[in-house]
Amino acid sequence: MKIYETIEEMRAACRAARHGGQRLGFVPTMGALHEGHLSLIRAAKAARDIVAASIFVNPTQFGPNEDLARYPRDFKHDRDLLAKEGVELLFAPSVEEMYPAGAVTWVTVEGLSGKLDGRSRPGHFRGVTTVVAKLFHIVEPDAAFFGQKDAAQLAIIRRMVRDLKFPVEIVACAIVREPDGLAMSSRNAYLSPGDRIAATSLHRSLEAVRAAVSSGERDILRLLEAARRVLAAEPGIKLDYAEIVDADSFEPAAALRRTCYVLLAAIVGKTRLIDNALIEPEAGGNSFRVTV
Ligand code: PAJ
Repeated sequence: MKIYETIEEMRAACRAARHGGQRLGFVPTMGALHEGHLSLIRAAKAARDIVAASIFVNPTQFGPNEDLARYPRDFKHDRDLLAKEGVELLFAPSVEEMYPAGAVTWVTVEGLSGKLDGRSRPGHFRGVTTVVAKLFHIVEPDAAFFGQKDAAQLAIIRRMVRDLKFPVEIVACAIVREPDGLAMSSRNAYLSPGDRIAATSLHRSLEAVRAAVSSGERDILRLLEAARRVLAAEPGIKLDYAEIVDADSFEPAAALRRTCYVLLAAIVGKTRLIDNALIEPEAGGNSFRVTV
């Protein structure tokens, strides 16, 4: 695996790799890698000839009171994991390399960026889309792989790619969970043993929605009530939002008709966690599949 710290070198290496028609898959990350990240790498390896990854803790997507300074960083460990997975090209730039002094240009997906996480974390999605756009310009991948875990991020990136005509296919990968259901996240490292137990209620809450749907419940408010009941019973959790939204618009769903997401965000101890489930109509009728 070749490691590059400058844009110039990474761009040249990616162009050379694509030379001769090899298809390049790309997995952007902020490091502190876990099985969720590695599942994206494996999907990229399976679908493309060459795989590039990036490790960059992007300061512009952190709010002033968020965890930028203490975000877990272990470059050597991450590098070894990526090499073992067969990643060919790794980009690990400095903040100065990615953001030249005085940079004032942003990429913003209007509307979507102000909802849900965007409401609770102003500026967050603007930071994500700006850095992902830069990374796409540097790597010029044929396909980029993102986790369904960050459903709003995925939707916003799809929208950016569509609106700005990036020639890249966006591939969504399923949420990878711990054996007890907690969605894997670099931020799980912050959880105390007590928080860790409380945190499983996010997954249990999504399971409660699945159970309600499979026993015939179709009313959005009652489905949300089922989710919130589980979270309310866990004193270690402070709910930020629990919403059922249309999968395309991210507007609150009025009825269970089209594909939608159950989206959760909650504070556990001092850590903000998100999780979601997908509700999809099944062929024709009034039947739905819930993927947690
Ligand atoms: P990061 O949180 O490191 O996540 C990198 C990728 O891994 C994202 O696409 C995320 O959705 C995916 N991922 C994280 N946990 C996952 C899980 N449990 N199962 C499946 N996929 C999972 O997301 C970011 O970094 C940044 O915002 C980034 C896109 C790199 C821009 O800075």
